[in-house]
Amino acid sequence: MAEFVLTLLAKKGGVGRTMHTQNFAGGFAEQGFRVLAVDLDSQGSLTANFFGDDFVDQLQPHETVAALFDDHREPDPNILIRQTAIKDIYVLPASGHMERFDLPEPLKQSERQFAVRDFLTDVDDYFDVVLIDTPPNISNLPAWSALMASQYVMTPIQPQKNPMEALIDVNVQVSNAIAHGNPNLTYLGCFVTNFHIRRAIQKTLELRLRQLYGPQVFNTILKSRPTYEEAQFHYKPVTHYRPKSEAAQLVRELLVEVVTRIQTSTTMMNQQQAKAG
Ligand SMILES: Nc1ncnc2c1ncn2[C@@H]1O[C@H](COP(=O)(O)OP(=O)(O)OP(=O)(O)O)[C@@H](O)[C@H]1O
Ligand SMILES: [Mg+2]
Repeated sequence: MAEFVLTLLAKKGGVGRTMHTQNFAGGFAEQGFRVLAVDLDSQGSLTANFFGDDFVDQLQPHETVAALFDDHREPDPNILIRQTAIKDIYVLPASGHMERFDLPEPLKQSERQFAVRDFLTDVDDYFDVVLIDTPPNISNLPAWSALMASQYVMTPIQPQKNPMEALIDVNVQVSNAIAHGNPNLTYLGCFVTNFHIRRAIQKTLELRLRQLYGPQVFNTILKSRPTYEEAQFHYKPVTHYRPKSEAAQLVRELLVEVVTRIQTSTTMMNQQQAKAG
């Protein structure tokens, strides 16, 4: 069994789900965990971040995550899961073939809702950590299927007005997922990224976020640093591109918090189960 499945979910586009899914993969892999990064976005950005755009363009449907949702295909892990150039990081790729499964009203999609969960059940003995990158439409089937497959979910947030409002919708959708299919899901919280330390307005918005969401907000802030984009340009997590950079160090600090929250939540769950049993 994988130790945990963690989804990055945000309603707003361009906030850093894909970039930081890749960086988290790096942060866990350098600790010796075997990581599977699942790309559920038909843009295929996570896949391209590891393998390049040409690779994404050349993928056949049966070689992408779309195979999980296709009633006429039996997904083959040996074809689907790709080893990356980074030790201990594997990717389940996406491409435009996923577009036809970007369907509304996922609750009406019967077994497809659980396509990712069921696939992971078959392969998760091979992985310690599974990370899932999702598209910005959090109501449709791809993001929903990620929530059905995960124990944990968290949100990257950039300190602007709208992304903060979008957090309300994330909380609602996570509650829906817990009520309608995955009672084992826990919302870990949100983290601030692309934070410009010199812009007073960003500090104001960050404080407001903490006032509104309190302990949901991770202490670690991923400051705006060009190293993140440079790493992406080189197809690497920042932890592997510039291991000693501040950008890499911030990812590690955030992951310490992530693991602590996961451990706390597991302990609480075990205590509740012990009481109930
Ligand atoms: N800490 C940071 N420092 C610098 N830039 C950052 C930081 N965090 C995020 N970004 C910027 O935000 C962008 C987020 O892109 P990314 O593709 O990861 O977002 P996304 O949420 O996956 O968007 P999409 O809707 O396209 O899937 C990055 O390309 C980068 O420019
Ligand atoms: Mg993305």
